[in-house]
Amino acid sequence: MNPILTMQNVSVNFPVKGGLPFLKKRFVQAVSDVSLTINQGETFGVVGESGCGKTTLGNAMIGMVKPTSGEVIFQGKNLYTLPKEEFKATRRQMQMIFQDPYSSLNPRFNVYQIISEPMFIRGEDDEETMKARVVELLELVGLSSDDLYRYPSDFSGGQRQRLGIARSIILNPSFLVCDEPVSALDVSIHAQILNLLNEIQAQMNLTYVFISHNLADVKNMCDRLAVMYLGKIMESGSSEKIFRNPLHPYTQALLAVVLDTVVGKEREFVILKGDIPSPINPPMGCRFWQRCPKAMEGCKTVPPEHLEVEEDHFVACHLVNGFPDVELPTNYDQLVG
Ligand SMILES: Nc1ncnc2c1ncn2[C@@H]1O[C@H](COP(=O)(O)OP(=O)(O)OP(=O)(O)O)[C@@H](O)[C@H]1O
Ligand SMILES: [Mg+2]
Repeated sequence: MNPILTMQNVSVNFPVKGGLPFLKKRFVQAVSDVSLTINQGETFGVVGESGCGKTTLGNAMIGMVKPTSGEVIFQGKNLYTLPKEEFKATRRQMQMIFQDPYSSLNPRFNVYQIISEPMFIRGEDDEETMKARVVELLELVGLSSDDLYRYPSDFSGGQRQRLGIARSIILNPSFLVCDEPVSALDVSIHAQILNLLNEIQAQMNLTYVFISHNLADVKNMCDRLAVMYLGKIMESGSSEKIFRNPLHPYTQALLAVVLDTVVGKEREFVILKGDIPSPINPPMGCRFWQRCPKAMEGCKTVPPEHLEVEEDHFVACHLVNGFPDVELPTNYDQLVG
């Protein structure tokens, strides 16, 4: 396996707007201490509930959001310490497909303008070259040269997502973050777009990050994956191993609801307690303990490490890893109350 992107202890905090000037500044801890490796040519899934930090993580991978701490290494280079020009050139190799094909395309631009814009921004000014490339891409994504001067409003959701895909690959990227690329689409078009992504990946030798909350899609699409909860990775590694043997209670809960369709076993109902806590003030131990059906006392205060339990299968759970030999805080009893 040949890594194309590695994240080392990446955290992204956003300052909370507003608040009183004399109070301490507060931060949304959108991504917390994430380490992962994505291999050349694979599809790497990122799964988790809304607000758990998937988009922020994807943005940090492709140079769109600078991590508060930690490193992103892309093709052996430390992305955020590159000189400006090299950073820009590297960024072009990394693109994103957005969730909402309605708001991500400028309604005042025609298809030619929308798809060729990244080429134009890069400095290309030859109309014929750009037009030829756009037509080539339109055909690749299942549209045609007849669509060149149409506007986004003339297209259905699925067709708009095809336009978004064409635009994202015009500069021949090597790394593509697909941020919930089908969740805004009708189920009937769902499979067509996923097939298209698979075809393009094979043709262009792309590495994908596939962000989704749909476990069935993740199982079909991904070689490896990370399960996120409140900014942290709970479980990661080989997709086959995680689906066969989910170890984290959160992964088990996510899977339980779709067991029949995804794993072919009888569906279970694991009811998670309570709501997702706020990422402004996350729980101090395991981020999941308040909702975990198997939480133990120590889970409330000791954050679990994300450890490899079998080859390419990592879990951050005390239940699986056991408690590390750490001293509990002196006010432990008070904390766990
Ligand atoms: N630019 C920003 N400024 C402040 N807070 C932000 C910003 N972007 C994201 N957040 C917050 O960070 C947390 C993670 O957001 P993110 O969009 O990464 O989650 P997500 O998993 O992609 O959610 P969804 O499934 O709804 O797309 C959320 O609490 C969100 O409100
Ligand atoms: Mg998102």
